[in-house]
Amino acid sequence: MNQPQPTLVADIAACRNDFPALNQDVNGHSLVYLDSAASAQQPLAVIEAVARYQNDDHANVHRGVHTLSHRATELYEGARDKLRKFVNAASRAEIVLTSGTTESINLVAQSYCRPTLRSGDQILITWLEHHSNIVPWQLVCEQTGAELIVAPINDRGEIELDELYALMTGPVKLLSLSHVSNALGTVNPLREIIDRAKKAGITVLIDGAQGVPHMTVDVQALDCDFYAFSGHKMFGPTGTGVLWGREALLEEMPPYKGGGDMILEVSFDNTVFNDLPYKFEAGTPNISGTIGLGAAVDYLQSVGMDNISEHEKALHEYLVDKLAGVNGIRLIGTARNQASVQSFMLNDIHPHDLGTIVDHQGIAIRTGHHCAMPVMQRFGLSGTARASLGLYNNTDDVDRLILALEKARQIFA
Ligand code: ALA
Repeated sequence: MNQPQPTLVADIAACRNDFPALNQDVNGHSLVYLDSAASAQQPLAVIEAVARYQNDDHANVHRGVHTLSHRATELYEGARDKLRKFVNAASRAEIVLTSGTTESINLVAQSYCRPTLRSGDQILITWLEHHSNIVPWQLVCEQTGAELIVAPINDRGEIELDELYALMTGPVKLLSLSHVSNALGTVNPLREIIDRAKKAGITVLIDGAQGVPHMTVDVQALDCDFYAFSGHKMFGPTGTGVLWGREALLEEMPPYKGGGDMILEVSFDNTVFNDLPYKFEAGTPNISGTIGLGAAVDYLQSVGMDNISEHEKALHEYLVDKLAGVNGIRLIGTARNQASVQSFMLNDIHPHDLGTIVDHQGIAIRTGHHCAMPVMQRFGLSGTARASLGLYNNTDDVDRLILALEKARQIFA
């Protein structure tokens, strides 16, 4: 019997042609790319924006009176303005350009937490977190004597909200949690969690690395204090990212790194730091990458974040239905609100073997612990296979994955 086809957003089908990397054969088969949660492919508009800058406009930013430096600065600062609108920040001073989510979180750990936390204070995270949202807090706890505490998750991969709220007590100074789990796809109920944290007087950081590619993000509506994200998960270049922070908090925070561009005046007696956001942007930044990230924002907005969410939701449901039809599949992560990221096991086949077999058929999935070892430990696994769907995927991609999994099952039967 034929499976009913999901209703996908019609125009999105055409977007696939915007991504040159998808149009190639891998191991003798046309490529099926199901690893966007690790790094998304880039549309031609992004590649061309970077190439145009490299060809015609390259110079350092904020430093020159010459024409190329002006052009580079305009393009680079233009990208900051686009990013401000993209997450609805109140001001461009709140958009700190970083190398990615990891740097953004480390910045908060070292510049917000390190000077203010002391023994007896706590930082609260959850079992769902990526290592980037665990290790920076472990480091700062070691530096300050503060304690890291962790809220549990249930068998679906959802945060146990009652237990999270019970942990929100006086000593907790910061709550840091993901918008969307990279390993399980769980979409956390941020509004409710942030409300509870605010009532308890807790500062909130959201790791948005897996949030921004899938849905509209409005930092003012969320009412968090920091929101960190990466360019390469949202179809932009690697080595780019953003820390959004409330201006009043960023103002209070000391610089995280010293160097050029983050100062107004330097003498051996005294250094005056630059205004926001430059205070946190020491050294020559990733100019070409950030310009590419600005082009990625334009691209996402031209497709429409709501269209992307709708398309991915329908495709994820199709994937889950199809996986359910494969004998021996066990879904890892079955949250009631899930983004288009799906971990699974197939019988007792090691995920790396599974990844290799499907790669031989031209299909790219991620296997292993997904930089989220505690999540794996929670499910008693060393790793999973994970298919992550992006705006450019379609039902044929899912069908190809299913055929490849059937083949793997036969090989290991
Ligand atoms: N954090 C990235 C992932 O989930 C690398 O694959």
